[in-house]
Amino acid sequence: MTDILKNDRFLRALRREPVDTTPIWVMRQAGRYLPEYRATRERAGSFMGLAQNPELACEVTLQPLERFDLDAAILFSDILTIPDAMGLGLSFAHGEGPQFARPVRTTADINRLAVPDMDGELRYVMDAVRLIRRELAGRVPLIGFAGSPWTLACYMVEGHGSRDYVSLKALCWNEPQLAHRLLDVLARSVAAYLSAQAAAGAQALMVFDSWGGMLGPAPFREFSLRYMAQIVAALKDDAHARDLPVILFSKGANASLAAMADSGCAALGVDWTIDLADARRAVAGKVALQGNMDPAILRASVDVIRREARAVLDSYGPHPGHVFNLGHGITPEVDPEHVRVLVDEVHTYGRVLRGMPA
Ligand code: CP3
Repeated sequence: MTDILKNDRFLRALRREPVDTTPIWVMRQAGRYLPEYRATRERAGSFMGLAQNPELACEVTLQPLERFDLDAAILFSDILTIPDAMGLGLSFAHGEGPQFARPVRTTADINRLAVPDMDGELRYVMDAVRLIRRELAGRVPLIGFAGSPWTLACYMVEGHGSRDYVSLKALCWNEPQLAHRLLDVLARSVAAYLSAQAAAGAQALMVFDSWGGMLGPAPFREFSLRYMAQIVAALKDDAHARDLPVILFSKGANASLAAMADSGCAALGVDWTIDLADARRAVAGKVALQGNMDPAILRASVDVIRREARAVLDSYGPHPGHVFNLGHGITPEVDPEHVRVLVDEVHTYGRVLRGMPA
């Protein structure tokens, strides 16, 4: 696909090139805080019904862009589509988060896992990517995404969300070879999945490692980062994905930012528990940074939101390579008007920071 991008700030920032102002998008920008999302979700009947219907997935992907001056779109889907396509049976019980009907528990369960067919079980994701690219018509770039092998394995072994994912950790200490076999088939699946999204039209790729921060630094490198680096290397060898920037986001893994910056990725996501000035020092100019306002600040007054947005921008400074985002997903009770204030403040103060008239 070769349509000219009308707004390429996001891709320029990921490449650490100069931009007129700081680009912003918001994790979970298509979600329950938007009444129009809740209406479409109601029509779809369930979260998976929504995610697996390319027309509806396209509709909700575009909803936040109709309202706000965001600099990127993100495919509406979920990280758990891969284990679902592997046959684990994903559902979202109302208000209870994800559940697998057939979690991975035994050696035989792990040996049975295979890379899903991107033109078969996961075809609906690629159809959605193609449709969204067409409907975006070059307005802003489209981000494709996947979960990290570690984070997918957390859910697959536990069978549902958890506070500590001790089942997978126990597997890592008790049967490391088996854990590595599981993580390896997931890494090959994620690489194939992101490559297929690139072929379908995704213009940047993000890996969500929501639970990488549950590991100490050495196990993080062994069980999480190593497999994300394997994915980045596979994508660099792939005709469709080769030139696409890859963003890695390991929530809670700030102690490992320097190691992650050597993975070959273009950018790292950062949560709000580190100052961006310190994160910049840790990555030593090797990658761009994406983050990192605490999503809870969106529940404060608009004056506080503006002040805190400026604080994040100041902490990165006028250097190239910053994509503004929250440090984790936006939560359902946020007033959509507060998102508008945030986007406007980031664009306005981003110009001031660069010495340009607001
Ligand atoms: O950012 C976006 O707008 C794109 C869409 C997106 C969703 N999930 C939609 C979604 C993305 C990028 C994800 C990633 C995802 N999914 C992650 C990584 C990011 C993170 O939050 O750490 C994880 C861990 C999941 C797994 C998952 N999916 C959980 C734990 C839940 C339930 C949590 C909740 O808020 O209820 C989901 C469901 C889900 N995925 C929703 C959305 C909008 C809410 C479901 C609904 O509409 O009922």
